[in-house]
Amino acid sequence: MADQMSDPRELFLHELGDVLYAERTLVSALPKLQEEASDDELRMGFEQHLEETRQHVKNVEQAFEALSEKPTAEKCPGIEGIKKEHDDFVAKESPTQDVLDSFLTGAGARTEHYEIAAYEGLVTMAEAMGEKDVVTLLNENLEQERKALEKLQTIGKRLAQEGAKQHQTA
Ligand SMILES: [Fe+2]
Ligand SMILES: [Fe+2]
Repeated sequence: MADQMSDPRELFLHELGDVLYAERTLVSALPKLQEEASDDELRMGFEQHLEETRQHVKNVEQAFEALSEKPTAEKCPGIEGIKKEHDDFVAKESPTQDVLDSFLTGAGARTEHYEIAAYEGLVTMAEAMGEKDVVTLLNENLEQERKALEKLQTIGKRLAQEGAKQHQTA
């Protein structure tokens, strides 16, 4: 039997490595989403969140360093799954540009929810461990994920309303 993980700090480092992998994956995925989107507000939203995501990677790396640990990414099948869902949908459904834009707001919102869950758990653990600098770094990311989610929801709502209207009159 493999050694059992018994130290909550090890769990924390595992989860931190998981979110590091997810953030790095998003740095490479967001430019593609930006290219796919045609709605100006959505494109700009992806562009802005790409800049923020680059900083998220740095904050997570700094959190490792604040704990005197080397930043180590753990493969994150969760984010790979969200990415695959996007790729499969686009390949299989060949959506029109309007449908694709709406789809992208949903894919983005799923991603933000995933990140928010990860950071909420990490902040709770870092608080319990008394690691104030780590809490500050991770809270910065968490707040930006929440704002990004809100923005995606607003755009998603507008696109859904526009889409439904157009479809009625078509
Ligand atoms: Fe992020
Ligand atoms: Fe995000």
